[in-house]
Amino acid sequence: MNTPVEGFSKLSKTQKIDWIATNCTKDPKKTKQLLQQYWNTDPRVQKLHDEFIENTISNYYLPFAIAPNFMINGDLFAIPMAIEESSVVAAASKSAKFWLERGGFKTEILGTEKVGQVHFIYNGDKNKLSNFFTSVKPQLLKSITSIAQNMEKRGGGINNIELRDLSNKIKGYYQLHCTFETLDAMGANFINSCLEQFAKTLKELALSFNDFTEEEKNIEVVMSILSNYVPNCLVKAEVSCPVSELGNADMPAKEFAEKFVQAVNIAKVEPYRAVTHNKGIMNGIDAVVLATGNDFRAVEAGVHAYAAKDGQYSSLTHARIEDGIFKFWIEVPLALGTVGGLTSLHPLVKVALEILQNPTAKELMQVVAVAGLAQNFAAVRSLVTTGIQKGHMKMHLLNMLNQLGATETEKQLLVTYFKDQTVTNASVKEALERIKK
Ligand code: MEV
Repeated sequence: MNTPVEGFSKLSKTQKIDWIATNCTKDPKKTKQLLQQYWNTDPRVQKLHDEFIENTISNYYLPFAIAPNFMINGDLFAIPMAIEESSVVAAASKSAKFWLERGGFKTEILGTEKVGQVHFIYNGDKNKLSNFFTSVKPQLLKSITSIAQNMEKRGGGINNIELRDLSNKIKGYYQLHCTFETLDAMGANFINSCLEQFAKTLKELALSFNDFTEEEKNIEVVMSILSNYVPNCLVKAEVSCPVSELGNADMPAKEFAEKFVQAVNIAKVEPYRAVTHNKGIMNGIDAVVLATGNDFRAVEAGVHAYAAKDGQYSSLTHARIEDGIFKFWIEVPLALGTVGGLTSLHPLVKVALEILQNPTAKELMQVVAVAGLAQNFAAVRSLVTTGIQKGHMKMHLLNMLNQLGATETEKQLLVTYFKDQTVTNASVKEALERIKK
């Protein structure tokens, strides 16, 4: 039975492992061995990982893989991906190869604006607040001079501050809605530091604004924080080709193209399908975001909010056939960084960025959007032709065999055997039992 623990973070790593293994696992000795087995053999590398977060007791591995042959705006990329789902990298690679032979992916940055807000309560005359804001806006902007200095030198910084009145939603609720350009940084620390300074300056200046009554002078700042909703930090990726080039062994070209467009249209109007459709897109997006040390939770939150921007959750991709040309594209908000955060700390993140030719944040946005589009193409292609299980179970075969304790020779034999057999839990178990005999 787990019991409360005092000062856990102050215990040594060994003490933490002892405590958790003894209090929360059936076989403490085995747990300790397993946790240690996943430590890096080089203590310096392990220390680096230990210090990323608090209370580290081991490392949690995910496969780090490569999906090659992505032609993006005429350049070839091999895309690094960190993900556990068996079929994702295979599907991405298959899509990349397919579109490599049909002109590749074209991408475009539609915006790079980041957002942050100071949320505050002001109970008083709206016009006076508006006049106050207009008069102090230059001082607010000036108050972040030292914070923004480096960012401004590189061409970024604060774009604008707006006063927003939301008092019809919550009594006295207003915001400073601020927009930023953070260049190659994701910008969370920069934005939050600026916002906290704006909040402080706002409160201070209100105290000495003569037109305010004593009550009006007392602006209450509730919080200052960036927003992960970045609808103007947007990238578009697309593929297109004559419908006649879409034929495959499973379906004639015209039928495939029409069914594909129909499937995307269903995801546009039907939230149950849209969520799964977009989940497939996020299989590609998250894997690259994670491999490049970016914040996948921020990306997930922002992307799904964007998918619901018109009032109903909908597909992030679009498809159409026009004058015999099949066109398939995605528009997706992505706040990414290629400097700061884990990018210069995590050794594998550094390698991932190097594999991508050390991209700028804008370049990384384009690669990530392409990974999402490629993944969606592969998923929808399977769905409207063979069904998803055929490819998925083939990729899952090794996991199943590992779970059943197959030897290397048995695995090799069964992978060959299942090349033209249907993979199910039962069929794999039965085939393994047969060769074991
Ligand atoms: C599975 O991880 C993703 C899919 O369900 C996506 C989709 O249905 O489009 C295959």
